[in-house]
Amino acid sequence: MNIIGLYTNVNASACLLKSGQIVAVGEEERFNRIKANWTKSLPIQSIKYVLSEGHMTLDDIDYIAIGWDLNKYPDFMNSYVNKNLQGRSEIDKIIHDVNISHWNPDYFKFRLEISLSKAGVKGKMPEIRFLNHHLTHAASTFYLSPFSEATVITVDGSGEENATCVWKGSGDFLEKIHEINVPNSLGWFYSAITEYIGFKAYSGEGKTMGLAPYGNDVKEIREALEKIIQIEGHNYTIDPSYIYFSDRTHSFKFTDKLVRLLGQPPRKHGEEFTQFHKDVAFVTQDLLEEAVTNIVNYGVKETGFRNVCVAGGVGMNCKMNGKIQNMEEVDDVFVIPPSSDNGTSIGAALALYAEEGYGCRDYELEHVYYGPKYKPSEIEKILRYTKVPHVLCQDAERKAAELIYENNIVAWYQGAMEIGSRALGNRSILANPLNQNMKDKINHDVKHREAFRPFCPSMLEEDAPFYLDGIKSAPYMIVAYDALPGIKELLPSVVHHDNSVRPQTVTEDSNWRYWNLINEFKKLSGHGVVLNTSFNIAGEPIVCTPQEAIRCFYGTGIDYLFIGDYMIAKKWGRGI
Ligand SMILES: [Fe+2]
Repeated sequence: MNIIGLYTNVNASACLLKSGQIVAVGEEERFNRIKANWTKSLPIQSIKYVLSEGHMTLDDIDYIAIGWDLNKYPDFMNSYVNKNLQGRSEIDKIIHDVNISHWNPDYFKFRLEISLSKAGVKGKMPEIRFLNHHLTHAASTFYLSPFSEATVITVDGSGEENATCVWKGSGDFLEKIHEINVPNSLGWFYSAITEYIGFKAYSGEGKTMGLAPYGNDVKEIREALEKIIQIEGHNYTIDPSYIYFSDRTHSFKFTDKLVRLLGQPPRKHGEEFTQFHKDVAFVTQDLLEEAVTNIVNYGVKETGFRNVCVAGGVGMNCKMNGKIQNMEEVDDVFVIPPSSDNGTSIGAALALYAEEGYGCRDYELEHVYYGPKYKPSEIEKILRYTKVPHVLCQDAERKAAELIYENNIVAWYQGAMEIGSRALGNRSILANPLNQNMKDKINHDVKHREAFRPFCPSMLEEDAPFYLDGIKSAPYMIVAYDALPGIKELLPSVVHHDNSVRPQTVTEDSNWRYWNLINEFKKLSGHGVVLNTSFNIAGEPIVCTPQEAIRCFYGTGIDYLFIGDYMIAKKWGRGI
């Protein structure tokens, strides 16, 4: 059975599942170059990509599975919203009506069919099945996890009426055992504060998390935020009047009432961060962790399963995931790397496959390299076409390691692109983590990120226990660990202010070439660790094609680009 899974909104993506195995995953932002696909384009280019990787047309596809249950619109969701979201302002009613019209299943099918036809996608439209959004999040993380039984939590902004769900995952079955519904959304709460602090909701939450360790637990701020979120055991409520039930003059995501509550105007983009902003971030992160660990505690007790799977937009919060990992009640944690809605195309395909009676437990996720790749001949053709001076490099890993050791910034473009928002060694910018100034240098020369934000390390998996407390395997940079004593001084560029690290552990099996590069760096430096940040500039998606890699290389202060077996330099010499 062949299924295309789709998510069709912000973070749109497509996944081709062939007999239960992932063939390819495309994220629309990588093709249309609009970060997170904010324009909400249908993932037509992603569908074309996954079909071409599978050597298929639509005639070969049994079902298209959608990671949002449009069948609940308009009837159920209209009555749900009218009943549970009373007190909305007139403008919110208008916004709701606009969304409802877009989420009509017949209109959606019409739009998809026309768009595929216009794009020249061959074949007959398969049957479309709409799936519960949180089920697709749960399926994405549980079915790809190493666990045959697990407590699964999905924490999101919203998915139909659901905001947070707890699932019992056992074999091929997922059973929902608890749900908390909108407007009681942890995702909305965190996004509201994210916008208040001056970042963009649905993309800047990681910045709020990064700012939090610089803050303190200030009593007045905690008392204020506890007026918004009330946590009682494994339940919590969110007062929506601070998020969107009253006048909003600053943001879609929070109300003027929130501004009055906190007593200070929201931070505008570009303004300095004050201690107040840091304290608000700290308390917000702390409240999120308290609510979620309570829910995990409840889930583990109810299911009896001490392994935990996490998904949903809030699952991108690696500090929260680290907190779950450290809970006494928990043995191990798995978080699907595309934990946001981009992963629900995978989850929709898997959930439908299970619904059709097939087993989903044949394999676990071993890597994330399901995106586009280019043959050496294609790369060479592009290098010749662009007239970029380049050399063939037989020992690219060793050469790159040398240049990193000499404190150059090196772009590393190899093989198939990663899915999810982390570059994990195929579309990465690499640097020397031992260098005290490297964080500032990369920010100045390439990334232009906020100075407080940490960079992350990739490390040989076998060496990780020398650097991080309690680590075994962490291949996806989605769970935070504490650095062992002395590591912050040793690796200043990749250890955060609060001594936390968001690592990628690399094995020979998962990515031999990247492992080899890090191992070459170890031969020079004594440490199997490199700084790894995504190959892009702020505000743009990670580079996908060789042309985009070349453009990013020449548009920034990156010193060297390794693209397949070829090397491009800005400074030639020293045997190059
Ligand atoms: Fe979601």
